[in-house]
Amino acid sequence: MNIHTYERLWLAGAMVLIVGFVATITYGSVGLGIVMIGDDEDVLAPGEIDDDERFADPGVEQVGENEYEAHVVAMTFIYQPDTIEIPAGNEVTFYVTSRDVIHSFTVVGTNVNTMVVPGEVSTMTVEFDEPGEYGILCNEYCGSGHHDMEAELVVVPEDEFDLTELAVEAPDEVGPDDEIELSTTVENGLLDSLDTTVEVQVGDETITEDLTVDGEETEELSVTVDAGDLGEGDHDWTVTVDDHEETGTVTVSDETNDDDANEAGTPAGGAAVTGASVDVAGPMAGGEGA
Ligand code: CUA
Repeated sequence: MNIHTYERLWLAGAMVLIVGFVATITYGSVGLGIVMIGDDEDVLAPGEIDDDERFADPGVEQVGENEYEAHVVAMTFIYQPDTIEIPAGNEVTFYVTSRDVIHSFTVVGTNVNTMVVPGEVSTMTVEFDEPGEYGILCNEYCGSGHHDMEAELVVVPEDEFDLTELAVEAPDEVGPDDEIELSTTVENGLLDSLDTTVEVQVGDETITEDLTVDGEETEELSVTVDAGDLGEGDHDWTVTVDDHEETGTVTVSDETNDDDANEAGTPAGGAAVTGASVDVAGPMAGGEGA
């Protein structure tokens, strides 16, 4: 049988295309590891999200020297957390699950993109080399607020990244003979210990104290200031730890003393103060003498 030369070329070309398509699909599913999420992977029923310790308080945690995990919950029409901060140059594995319907977790301008199916946990490991800010959005139609469903991914330089949480307890109102106790709690979520400085400003008094918080630990630091030194009126306070800040106002008022007549006899001079407390005069003199 004689096959015309052009016919032969067309047949050969078609064969090359077929082999090429099969090779592309094979490479995509085997070589790149692109798979549909399935029942054999991590499952989590939407009703169990709040009981699951990974997702009950979603966020970023450090799991190894240069390894982090980020747990994210998608729901109509938000992501929890809505701002995810990760360090550049580190491996971050995202675990994303849905509380209700199918969403997606798409980091705009990157190839980070997965469906988020209720009952399943989508997993992706990524590494961002450069700091930057990225939008996260949902590209699976999920309801009337679909177009508003967004979050933010912030990649910060590695040396600026921390998992520090700062909380301050301070009184709203004290009498002129009372002491103002500012109790600062610093939580260090990183594995390495945190060497930092706690700066407490009350009125025009500034107290600084060095503080070391071991990895995955919490430390408390109490600072007391005599209300009498500040005088009557409103005094703003600020507690700063690295780039974290808490602020508030304490009112020194004579009326408070009258109201709390039974507290008028509290020992003065810091007798009732715990060991961690700092006397205002000490660090002030030390800090400014240098
Ligand atoms: Cu969620 Cu669209």
